[in-house]
Amino acid sequence: MRQTPIYFYSSKSGMARQFALALKRPVFDLTDRAVRTSVPDGPWVLLTPSYKTGNADNDTVPEPVKRFLRDPAVRRKMVGIMGSGNRNFGAHYQAAARQIANISGRPMLFEFELQGTQWDVEDARAILEELDRQLAHAHGEEPAKQSIA
Ligand SMILES: Cc1cc2nc3c(=O)[nH]c(=O)nc-3n(C[C@H](O)[C@H](O)[C@H](O)COP(=O)(O)O)c2cc1C
Repeated sequence: MRQTPIYFYSSKSGMARQFALALKRPVFDLTDRAVRTSVPDGPWVLLTPSYKTGNADNDTVPEPVKRFLRDPAVRRKMVGIMGSGNRNFGAHYQAAARQIANISGRPMLFEFELQGTQWDVEDARAILEELDRQLAHAHGEEPAKQSIA
């Protein structure tokens, strides 16, 4: 069964990266220009932190994420969003991930703080495995029928 890949952005502090790598599935780093200018070969999930930078419109979506999402072919294949944030940012908690989910109409699959806990990783892995199953089913990859005999 295809493992839905994660495309993530992570700054130097590397917390989203640490979480992404712990998911034990294909992950692609949006700080890499070659990744940012590619188109995923099927359904994919975005993992992004939020960065309130105090610009006029209080935008918190990291620039590499914006650039990647500029391509309609990329946007069409996005099936969900995960967010890394920090509750200290109050009303702006997970602002980037939530904004992208709202605009795209795709579900917010999982939110966690900083690099997440081991339980966060387990929960996110279970959610992604269920997503893999649903996508496989939607594409007609029926599980092998069990013999009745
Ligand atoms: C300057 C700055 C602004 C931030 N703004 C937000 C924010 O608006 N909302 C939020 O939930 N977290 C915010 N955070 C927390 C980060 O999103 C969080 O620490 C995340 O885990 C960072 O991921 P990274 O280390 O992979 O870049 C901010 C952190 C910094 C340093």
